[in-house]
Amino acid sequence: MTVPILRQLADLHAKTSEWTRAGEVIGVVPTMGALHQGHLSLVEAAKAECDRVIVTIFVNPKQFNNPEDLAKYPRTEADDAVKLEPYGVDAIYVPEPDQIYPAGFATNVSVAGLTDVMEGEFRPGHFDGVATVVAKLFLQTRANRAYFGEKDYQQLMVVRRMARDLDIPTEVIGCPTVREASGLAMSSRNLRLSPEGLEVAAHLNAAMRSVAEALGRGEAFDEVAKHACAGLLEAGFSEVEYLDLRSAASLKPLGRASEPARLFAAALVEGIRLIDNIEVPAA
Ligand code: PAF
Repeated sequence: MTVPILRQLADLHAKTSEWTRAGEVIGVVPTMGALHQGHLSLVEAAKAECDRVIVTIFVNPKQFNNPEDLAKYPRTEADDAVKLEPYGVDAIYVPEPDQIYPAGFATNVSVAGLTDVMEGEFRPGHFDGVATVVAKLFLQTRANRAYFGEKDYQQLMVVRRMARDLDIPTEVIGCPTVREASGLAMSSRNLRLSPEGLEVAAHLNAAMRSVAEALGRGEAFDEVAKHACAGLLEAGFSEVEYLDLRSAASLKPLGRASEPARLFAAALVEGIRLIDNIEVPAA
């Protein structure tokens, strides 16, 4: 069945008012489109746990620190709608830009602390853009639950904190990263890589897994990380922005996996910035 595409907040509210009145649980999967299996796994999780599911598609200009990245971000709305058809979602909300940022929009949602490092450090303003748009999408959709991929682990933490701090009654649910057979984390940005670039990209997750194994053997993070970064440059990455071991709960940097930890990386290939993170078992 063709899924209704809603572009105006009033049309979305007409639906959600009806669902809320009927006591139905509303789930939302916020996306920027160019849907892949990772997004679809979030839709599946939402379908399993909610009475109604809304997928939002909005390429949010406020979260792009690099204008070229925004201009080149894939936009594939018609394909996205086809991909969603088999899942029986109840609505696709593709807001017109003025439904999110009406003329005179002057409010910024900013989460301190968690956003100082990694993506926050390398993409100034990015998380303000994410927190602002996600706060709006939670309120506009009146969602009881919202589904995010762990691939953007720092984003997941920021969004969870934002909803808690602002008393937005949307439960934030994290779902496991979906990977290609090569280990490469699925991402809409992978669409911009050549076949050679995709081969190089697969080294990122492989290198991270080797670092996690070395940490498990009790090796010191600094040494192992230096070696892994050199290997990534040799494999064809042009730059490794960070390879960090951090507390899974607070994102504070760790020298070894002395508490539940995650390894985080950002690296560039063919001018495309890829990120990934994996769990590191305590040594
Ligand atoms: O992860 C994304 O695709 C975006 O950051 C999100 C959560 C849809 C907000 O624009």
